Amino acid sequence: MRETTDLFAEPAEPDMPAGAFSVPRSLVALAETAILHRDPERFALLYTLIWRAFRGEKHILEDAADPLVRRVQLLAANVRRDIHKMRAFLRFREVEEPEGTRHVAWFEPEYFIVEANAPFFVRRFATMRWSILTPYRSAHWDGETLRLGPGASPAEVPDDDRLAEYWRTYFSAIFNPARLKLSAMLSEMPKKYWRNLPEAEAIPDLVRAARARTDRMIEAPVLSPPRPTRRTAPPMPPTVPGALGALAREAASCRLCPLWTRATQTVFGEGPGDARLMLVGEQPGDQEDLAGRPFVGPAGQVLDRALTEAGIDRNHVYVTNAVKHFKFEPRGKRRIHATPDRAEIEVCRTWLDRERALVQPAVTVLLGASAARAVLGRAVTISRERGRPLPLAGGRGIITVHPSYLLRLPDESAKAREYAAFVEDLQAALRLAGGG
Ligand code: URA
Repeated sequence: MRETTDLFAEPAEPDMPAGAFSVPRSLVALAETAILHRDPERFALLYTLIWRAFRGEKHILEDAADPLVRRVQLLAANVRRDIHKMRAFLRFREVEEPEGTRHVAWFEPEYFIVEANAPFFVRRFATMRWSILTPYRSAHWDGETLRLGPGASPAEVPDDDRLAEYWRTYFSAIFNPARLKLSAMLSEMPKKYWRNLPEAEAIPDLVRAARARTDRMIEAPVLSPPRPTRRTAPPMPPTVPGALGALAREAASCRLCPLWTRATQTVFGEGPGDARLMLVGEQPGDQEDLAGRPFVGPAGQVLDRALTEAGIDRNHVYVTNAVKHFKFEPRGKRRIHATPDRAEIEVCRTWLDRERALVQPAVTVLLGASAARAVLGRAVTISRERGRPLPLAGGRGIITVHPSYLLRLPDESAKAREYAAFVEDLQAALRLAGGG
């Protein structure tokens, strides 16, 4: 060990290049986050922390009472919170350019988080052309390359458009006056962000109207439940407890895209909230739309059989879809499945992302191209990518075919071969999840 106080003075070990030294990986991760803070002392604090680790305090981060460790962890926690706020409160507006539509957003982060957050937006909006403008840095994505540029001014962002309308509608739709808690709302969505949030324009009116709406709800006679028909959407089962149940009830009144107008009801995911395995399909079919449950029709039967053969108990799996409403074309008395388009998948992804964030499955099985697009944010060729583990935030993914593809295959030998490959993919997912 050298006796200098300069970390970068000379090689730490004889076989290392000058200026190189090693510290625990967790310290590197902490430093990478804390350094994004604005606190002018952050460099000195991090230098001292790294110096102490380098001088032998290898487990320094485990000492939660150490004032230096606490201070740096607080910096990192503030930065993480800012990163989260940017993900939650950033709103794009559309600008028409000769090359096509560009989505532009203005955001004022507290810390230097744009570079660290940009890859998240690349993954999330991979197929859109977008620019995120902030006072100190801008980030631009053209569908292939991420470019970072200088800061900008809010005047560069257009102030109204279709997306703004969409956010206002979305917010009004999920706003429940009986659950209005202004203080919680303000801490979750600090007023500072309101001016960039189109839906925030609706808040004062909604708050004013809330009292009257709540009174009407209380005074309304309790009706006997209507007979279920195709056009009456039964409420989400009140028995689903916890955050997933709350999310399912929120999704029950989803108006994010027009698909709800013709479907019977939102078909939300189901299964244990702590499942290690999640299956994502495309969208509910005719029978799922009527039953309000995913994968209960013909494709569901193929799936159930394959799960059993793969040694997977469906009761231990969380099963959901990329799109939560049935999209169809009426043909006589029949409703024929229609594939959801990119925009419908993109918009509905808000529910899937929130389901995944709550369940946190170790492995997510993507059944077909729509599911893969929803989770990966890009088009995939199933035959090229199936069966291989893919990194996903907080877990891994496996792409495989959709069970209805197996139903559509015309000849029996292809059916048998493809079905066996499907079961193998499910087995691979089970092994990956540590269950087989
Ligand atoms: N197909 C799907 O993708 N999901 C279902 O729930 C049913 C059929």
